[in-house]
Amino acid sequence: MRKAITLTVNGRERGVEVEARTTLLDLVREQFGLTGAKLGCDIQVCGACTLLVDGKPVSACSMLAVDADGCAVETIEGLGSKDKLHPLQEAFMEFGALQCGYCTSGFILTAKALLAENPQPSDAQIRDYLAGNFCRCGCYQEIMQAVKNVVGES
Ligand code: FES
Ligand code: FES
Repeated sequence: MRKAITLTVNGRERGVEVEARTTLLDLVREQFGLTGAKLGCDIQVCGACTLLVDGKPVSACSMLAVDADGCAVETIEGLGSKDKLHPLQEAFMEFGALQCGYCTSGFILTAKALLAENPQPSDAQIRDYLAGNFCRCGCYQEIMQAVKNVVGES
């Protein structure tokens, strides 16, 4: 069964028809070509698929696209441009907070949501908020440094 939905993706309103079983991750990757978010565990554990829906981090692998009807969705592609990166993107590069990059989109979007909620988080609060994001390359220390650097800027 297909359903027509309308959502805002990175500030642009998009109307689309989706199967009832289509996940939000499949919608943004396969129909919108926004492939920054990745499929990792597929069971809402690793955070590689994280997107912001109405400003909150969600596991897009486990959210149906139909449930995003009427919502504002933000993907990593909406954050910065090649010429002007978002401060979190800059900091991840500066501190070497990635190796393969598979987890990076999820970490940056989650960190963005954290800083919107709490512009001056403590180290413990950063760790706690990012606890649902895994980095199999083990860049946790550099990720903490990068996020803390942006906290220091705000
Ligand atoms: S792929 Fe969605 S949480 Fe791991
Ligand atoms: S940089 Fe490879 S999984 Fe995090």
